[in-house]
Amino acid sequence: MNLFDVYSLFDVTPVRAKGCHIWDDKGQEYLDLYGGHAVISVGHCHPKYVAAITEQLRKIGFYSNSVKNPMQLELARKIGEAAGLDDWSLFLINSGAEANENALKLSCFHTGKDRIIAFHKSFHGRTSGAVAVTDNPKIQSPFDTCHKVTFCNLDDAEGVEAELAKGDVAGVIIEGIQGVGGINVPSDAFMQALRDLTAKYGTVLILDEVQSGCGRTGKFFAHQWAGITPDLITMAKGMANGFPIGGVLVSPMFKAVKGMLGTTFGGNYLAMAAALAVIDIIKEEGLVKNALEVGDFIKEKLPASPKIKEIRGRGLMLGVELNESVKPVREKLLYEKHIFTGVAGTSMFRLLAPLVLTKDEASIFLKALKEVLA
Ligand SMILES: Cc1ncc(COP(=O)(O)O)c(C=O)c1O
Repeated sequence: MNLFDVYSLFDVTPVRAKGCHIWDDKGQEYLDLYGGHAVISVGHCHPKYVAAITEQLRKIGFYSNSVKNPMQLELARKIGEAAGLDDWSLFLINSGAEANENALKLSCFHTGKDRIIAFHKSFHGRTSGAVAVTDNPKIQSPFDTCHKVTFCNLDDAEGVEAELAKGDVAGVIIEGIQGVGGINVPSDAFMQALRDLTAKYGTVLILDEVQSGCGRTGKFFAHQWAGITPDLITMAKGMANGFPIGGVLVSPMFKAVKGMLGTTFGGNYLAMAAALAVIDIIKEEGLVKNALEVGDFIKEKLPASPKIKEIRGRGLMLGVELNESVKPVREKLLYEKHIFTGVAGTSMFRLLAPLVLTKDEASIFLKALKEVLA
């Protein structure tokens, strides 16, 4: 038996990690500005996080959702408090794609309509429904027919209204900031227009905060920059610092019907212990504020280079667009400077560092980038 070879891999084998640092099997240390794809929020192996999961495993590791688990309600309350959504509800699952699947399904249940509006350059996951609203034909099955989807342009409110006016749209799904598609930040005015238009036409507004949520952009959710409140919010990655989890936050306008949604692993004890530790650490250590401050520091101190076209994003969700191919730059950063970064497309690298990144650690990256670009 071998592994099904569908991912490209870094030539690195991590064996331990702490904060923003990773060590490989040869003892080499790396600085992590990728966060395992925006997942590591409170830093690798945070002692409080490790203790919470370990202690939970000693008490009870798993039982299905057929019994009461007060940790789920505690998590819902803490997320509600962090995001200012006290009267909302939480549905727990295991990943970002699954969160979006359930949000799409809820919008169809709620409206009785079947078309979804998504945006060019979107990424919402790889399962059937989530990939159908993802603007990348290369990763779609040739036979996905599970949603009627129309792709509109980001920041084109008129284009969206023209589609909504046809009257058959169940939901509009949009990322707080587009991640995989290249750190594209929708304008606040566009987000406000989307909110008004979806309300006007009786369509559900779904905010995918899977990558941009949990404090990464300097607000708990990226859409809060625009001062709007959507109808559904999906979250995952940073929520439990690497323990698989996903959540759909559901506004009070939705009616819960027994059996309409379900899950085996969602809301399990270990995921709850992990997510509760994460949300406490984010609050106690002021990580939302830190993400904004260190992100602004990176923007401000980015070396001047003709090879850099632009830096985009908010907080610690940043994209550095080059005037040339990103691959050799990223490889030099990894194999010569021992710094992990992500990419988007062919000319951008993405910085999705743990939210505990310090300015000193950011400075190590900035110096390395300057040297690599020179
Ligand atoms: C915005 C967004 N939504 C959904 C997903 C899918 O999440 P998962 O890989 O946990 O299914 C991702 C993953 O990168 C994402 O960035």
